[in-house]
Amino acid sequence: MKIKEVQQLPLSCQRGKVVKSTCIAISTEESMNAIEVQGLTKRFGDLVAVDHIDFSVTEGETYGFLGPNGAGKTTTIRMLVGLARPSEGKGRVQGYDIERDQSKVKQSIGVVPDVSNLYGELSARDNLIFLSRLYGVPRKERKQRADDLLREFGLFERRDDPFRKFSRGIKRRLTIAAALVHRPRILFMDEPTTGLDVAAARGLRQAIKQLHARGVTIFLTTHYIEEADQLCHRVAIIVKGKIIVTDTPEALKRRTQADEILELRVQREDDGLRQKLAGIPGVLQVSVENCLVKLYISSLNDVLPGVVSVLQQNRSMVGSIRTVLPSLEDAFVRITGLEAEKLRSEQKEANS
Ligand SMILES: Nc1ncnc2c1ncn2[C@@H]1O[C@H](COP(=O)(O)OP(=O)(O)OP(=O)(O)O)[C@@H](O)[C@H]1O
Ligand SMILES: [Mg+2]
Repeated sequence: MKIKEVQQLPLSCQRGKVVKSTCIAISTEESMNAIEVQGLTKRFGDLVAVDHIDFSVTEGETYGFLGPNGAGKTTTIRMLVGLARPSEGKGRVQGYDIERDQSKVKQSIGVVPDVSNLYGELSARDNLIFLSRLYGVPRKERKQRADDLLREFGLFERRDDPFRKFSRGIKRRLTIAAALVHRPRILFMDEPTTGLDVAAARGLRQAIKQLHARGVTIFLTTHYIEEADQLCHRVAIIVKGKIIVTDTPEALKRRTQADEILELRVQREDDGLRQKLAGIPGVLQVSVENCLVKLYISSLNDVLPGVVSVLQQNRSMVGSIRTVLPSLEDAFVRITGLEAEKLRSEQKEANS
């Protein structure tokens, strides 16, 4: 066993027998799970919002929950951080039981909720100092810690402005900084970039990458496929409360690379064309969006004669035709059966 780090922890972090006022935590090269979940379930009346999910997140990993509206992402986070009681199942965060050891869980995590929890009237700096106090940061360290975080997140110049005056992007940035005042090892973020413009979202993704570089374990939810692709080591795709698949973004893409995608740009789309194309042997799935038809196929040679014949019968004018490598979005469409368009329209709604 190779020892990677030896740390003195305060008493509150100790598990098992109390012998001295501090304990030594030894972490090894073999990584432990920062989050472990088995059969976690949440029911609201008849609705099963989260349905017997199992997953684990390794220390230092950035793990993504990707899914459409109502999939159960926020409910999962709420159970893990102690804001909602599971109906069934078990979860551990930093080794602590999410139901029995809630106060210890709360000390080890930072939470960036989908709606900010900071005070509008307080300045950026006072919000951070106030939260440091709530988290038990020693009085003499609070101001320094607030200033360090303000600098790190590029907000020091605006430290005295009240929170309510900030743009959405800056509010989100400060909400992340606020989640870090007690130096948690795990950060939960619920849709960190939803509602931000392109530049603000890019800046925030950069900040998330820096947190990962510092060794923080990150659990984030998103419905932006490209965000999951850029930030996450592994992605769980969740639909209607169930995890359909968990893998690295690369492996998810490879799953569809076994197939090919034949892309046709047509002048006019209609249901008849879609149905006829879907009926060709060897065509696994068809998606149509803004006159761009995507055929998920097993072999180009097998389907091409059928495709040409359908286009002729339908008198469809084709602007272009090509084969493409699948993106993570294509993988998502294939794996979930959901239309990429539906997911994007939700993204637009969220941004409006
Ligand atoms: N407190 C509640 N009472 C009743 N139903 C709820 C409650 N909270 C969530 N739900 C329902 O549970 C399901 C999952 O909701 P959840 O907010 O977890 O989804 P989500 O994946 O975070 O969606 P979004 O992308 O819109 O944030 C939805 O059908 C939602 O309406
Ligand atoms: Mg949500």
